[in-house]
Amino acid sequence: MDVSSITFGPGVLAEAGETLASLGCRRVALFTDQTVARLEAVSVARGSLQGAGLDVAVYDEARIEPTNASFTAAAEFAKKGNFDGFLSIGGGSVIDTCKAAALYSKYPAPFLSYVNAPIGEGRPVPGPLSPHVACPTTCGTGSECTGIAVFDHLELKAKTGIASRHLRPTRALIDPTLTRTLPPMVVAASGFDVLCHALESFTARPYAARSRPASAQARPMSQGSNPWSDVGAREALRLAGRFLVRAVRDSADTEAREALSWAATLAGIAFGNAGCHLPHAMSYSVAGLVRQYHCPGYPEGEALVPHGISVVVNAPSVFRALAPHLPERHLEAARLLGATGEIAAADAAEHIAGVLQRLMRECGVPSSPAALGYTPDDVGPLARGAMLQKRLVDNAPVPIDAARMEQLFEAALSGG
Ligand SMILES: [Fe+2]
Repeated sequence: MDVSSITFGPGVLAEAGETLASLGCRRVALFTDQTVARLEAVSVARGSLQGAGLDVAVYDEARIEPTNASFTAAAEFAKKGNFDGFLSIGGGSVIDTCKAAALYSKYPAPFLSYVNAPIGEGRPVPGPLSPHVACPTTCGTGSECTGIAVFDHLELKAKTGIASRHLRPTRALIDPTLTRTLPPMVVAASGFDVLCHALESFTARPYAARSRPASAQARPMSQGSNPWSDVGAREALRLAGRFLVRAVRDSADTEAREALSWAATLAGIAFGNAGCHLPHAMSYSVAGLVRQYHCPGYPEGEALVPHGISVVVNAPSVFRALAPHLPERHLEAARLLGATGEIAAADAAEHIAGVLQRLMRECGVPSSPAALGYTPDDVGPLARGAMLQKRLVDNAPVPIDAARMEQLFEAALSGG
C-alpha cells in the first residue's frame, strides 16, 4: 500500500508556505493555469509562500488536457529556474504538468524515455523528485494522490501517461472551499471521474489473481482491487451516490461539495493503489478523437471532452457487461450508489447500469459517445485507441480482446 500524505479541510491552502519550508524548500515554482491564476486561491498560496520566506516564480501556462509539448515547455521553465520545490494549484491537468516538470528538470531525458510502453520506453524514474505540494481546485481527478501524469502525444495522436511512485506529490493540501466557485458541468465531469475511479478500483482484477512479480522493484503501483483500496472505494461510492447530484445542482450546497472533495480524495487513494480499468482505457480515445464537442463551463476554442465525461459515457455499457462476472461486487456498488428495493445478484447488470444512467441524467451529462458526435463508423478507431492502454485494459476483471472492446463501444453508442 502506498499511502498519500494529505491535509484536508477548509482553509488549509494557507499552509502551503509553511509546508514547503518544512520540507526544506527555499525556491518554489508555483504551477497553475490561466483560469485558476485569476482566482483568489493563487494569491492566497503566493502570500503563504512569501510569508514563509520562500522565493516564488509562477508558471500559469499549464494546459487543460496537457500534451507532450505543454509538458516539455513546463519542464524547460523548471529547468531554467533552479527550483528546489514545487506547488501546483489547479485541476488534474495542472498537477500532472507539475509532476512532469519536476521529473524532467531533475532527470533530463528524451521525452518518451519515461512514458508508458508501448507508446514510450517505460524507463523507470531514477529516484525521488524535489518536494511537490499539490492543491486540487476541482473535486475529481485525485491526481494529488497518485503517481500518474496523463497527456496527449500530439504527433503520435495518442493519449498516454507516465507512472511512477516518485511522481506522487509529497503532500496534498485539499481545501474544499476552492470548489465553491466551480461551474456545474465542471463539478459533474470531475464528480463522475471520482465515481469511476472508485467503481473501477472496486471491480479491477483482484491483487490475489495475479502472478507474483519477479522482484520487489517490479511490483506495479496498480495491483488490482485489494482490501486497502476497497475501504476508500466503498465510501467514495456511497458519498457520490448521496451527494453528486446535489453538488452539481447547487453551488451553495457546501455540505455536498465538501463531501465530493472527500470522496475524490478517498477514490484517489483507492485507484492510486488498485488502478482503473476499461472506462478509463476507453476514455483516452473518446477524448483523443473528438471532432467538435464543446462542454459548457470549459474554455471555448478547440473541441474538448472533459476527462470525467470521456470516462463516464462508456461506463453503463462496461459495467453492464462486467457485472455477470462479478455480480456481488457490482450489486454492492449499485446499492452504495443509491439503487434501492429488492435487488438480486442475477440482476446486477441492470442495477449497476441503471443507477449510473440515472445519475448521469440527473446531472445533465452526455449519456453516450453518440452525444459527443461519435457514430458506429468510429467504433474501429475508438477500440484501437483503447486497446493501446494496455496497463488499464489488463486491469479489467476479465480478459478483453479487440473484438470485445468493439462490442463495448457499440453497446455504449446504442445507449449503454
Ligand atoms: Fe480519471
